[in-house]
Order: sequence, then structure tokens, then C-alpha cells
Amino acid sequence: MAPVILLAIESSCDETSASVLRDGQILSNVIYTQSVHEKYGGVVPEEASRLHSKHIIPVVHEALLQSGLSKHDLQAIAYTQSPGLIGSLLVGACFAKSLAQSLALPSIAVQHMQAHVLSNLIGDKTPGFPFLCLTVSGGHTQIVQCNSPLQMEVLGETLDDAAGEAFDKSAKLLGLPYPGGPLIDKYAALGNPLAFTFAKPQIPDLNFSFSGVKTSILYFLQAEQKKDTDFIEKHRNDLCASIQHTIIQILIQKLIKASKQTGIKEICIAGGVSANSGLRKALHETGSKQRWNTYIPKFEYCTDNAAMIAITAYYKYLAGEFADLETTPSARSTF
Ligand code: KG4
Ligand code: ZN
Repeated sequence: MAPVILLAIESSCDETSASVLRDGQILSNVIYTQSVHEKYGGVVPEEASRLHSKHIIPVVHEALLQSGLSKHDLQAIAYTQSPGLIGSLLVGACFAKSLAQSLALPSIAVQHMQAHVLSNLIGDKTPGFPFLCLTVSGGHTQIVQCNSPLQMEVLGETLDDAAGEAFDKSAKLLGLPYPGGPLIDKYAALGNPLAFTFAKPQIPDLNFSFSGVKTSILYFLQAEQKKDTDFIEKHRNDLCASIQHTIIQILIQKLIKASKQTGIKEICIAGGVSANSGLRKALHETGSKQRWNTYIPKFEYCTDNAAMIAITAYYKYLAGEFADLETTPSARSTF
């Protein structure tokens, strides 16, 4: 049988990425991160769309070059269809559909959150089915039960802020630049996670809430800064370590609950926040206590990337799930 060779494009937020896959193996994964948003303290949607338009051709060209293949070797072209910034999604979708049309190839529409979950299927050490995945990104926080590559069910999700937003908004309160998650991670390594305690939400089911944590941090900082205006500067490492510890505790406790409820011990994490070193460590430690098999995608597959779109598209290709030209991107997702 001829090998399945796919090109995948991710453009849902502020990363322009392209990946080439052959028979389930990732041959290239080129990511252009739009660092221009740092100076605004968040992603500016219009700027993001313009930068996707500017970078998509060189990024795709580089992904093909690194794979050692040409566009004439491809069997299908995949793109992120939802959720995300609509202007950014449109750039990737229009490009992918046009290229597919010009090469007389089918296109495959991929759901970004499903792709984050399936990033765990890249590489040699992959989970068995069914597995649970905690997907933690800048826009979403979900616990998903994945029964097969294309069959998954959301068991719980955030009712307000996402875990990544909790990191980024807390970092902003500490005066750190956007995106603050990686910086909290960096300073947390030097601080005491038990130095300060913040309110944890009491949500009975498998859903999450992070807005109360943020408010608790805000009030705490305001009170301490009244006594000492240099409080944040003096305690930056301990503050980062304690904030990170609080967010991780909330995530891990729900994961333990989900595993007990479903009896599933194949446990994965995915999404930008799964790059967090404290969360990675906590997952390993909890995993050995709970007798879980734990899985974490390689660093480059945690934050937004096209390789996860490619692996998802691969399973859709095998199942014959193609998109037609009328398929349009959607900012929201029903997944
Ligand atoms: O999955 P992702 O790249 O984009 C979305 O789909 O949202 O996730 C981005 C989020 C940001 O909130 C960023 O601060 C967070 O992931 N993040 C981290 C770390 N690296 C990225 N948060 C905590 N620690 C990190 N090391
Ligand atoms: Zn993402």
C-alpha cells in the first residue's frame, strides 16, 4: 500500500505552524511564534491574522523542505478548523483548501482540542485506549476520556478561566510580561511552593474554576503591598512557586477524581501548560502513587504546533473523514 503522506497547518492563535507526516511518523514540525504580541500583553487578533498571511508560505515551504518530500508526494492537506481566533483560522483554512484544490487533493478539517489530546499518540511511548487526558492551554482546560483516536468525551472543563489564563493573569499581577506562564515556571523553580496559600475553588464535579484563585491572589497582593510597596519584588520566587503549586493542585486533584470515577489509569496531559515543569513533576509523582501509566508529549508538541494536527488528520484520513470546500472555520467549538 502506498504510504500516507499529509501536510498539516495550524494557525488558530499566535503560532503559524506546518508539519509533514508519513504513515503516522512526523517528518517535520516547523513553528513560527509571533512574539510581537508580547508588547501588548496579549494576542491582538488582527495582527495575528496578518502575520499568519505573511508567514504561512515560508513555514509550509520549510516544513516540506525538512521532510525531504515535495508537495507532489502529498495525499491530503489538513488544517485547524476550530476553535480559535476566526481571522487566524481563516488564513490557515483558505491556504490549505486552495493548495488542496490546486493539487486535486482532499482536505481534512481538524479540531484543535482533539489534536492536543492526540499529540500523545506521536512517538514511541503512547497510551493504550481508553485513556484520560488533561488538556491545559491558554484558552481551554478539559479532562477528556479518549476511547479511540476519533472517539472522545469531555468529562469536565473550566467554567471560567483556562489554566493557562490563570498562569498568565497571575503573572500580570506580578508585573511579568505576556505570556507569563513560562516565567512563573522559571521563577517557581527558585521559590518555596508552600510560602503563601491561596483560595482553592470547591467545584464538586470534574469541572474547574480559576477566577477565584486569581481574585484571591489579587486581594493578597493588594493587602501586602499596602504594608510594603516592594513586596512583589522581594518575594517574586516564593509568589511564583506558591501560585504554580495552587494551580497544579487544582489540576491534579481533578485528575485523581476522574481516574477514580472511570477506573482508567492511562493518564496523559497536553496543551501549552503541560510544558510546565511543576505540572510534569506532579504528574509523575502522582502517577507512581496512584499506579498510573503517565504520558506527556515532547515539549515541541505541548504548545500549539502542526504535528498534532497532522497526527489527528492521519486517523481521519484512515477513517475517510474528509472535509468539503464548504467546511468553514469556527471560533467556537462544540467538542
Ligand atoms: O496550547 P497553547 O500553546 O495555546 C493555546 O491553545 O492556548 O497554550 C498557551 C498557554 C499560555 O497560557 C502559556 O502561558 C502557557 O500555555 N504555558 C505555560 C508554560 N508554557 C506555556 N504555562 C505554565 N508553564 C509553562 N512552562
Ligand atoms: Zn492550543
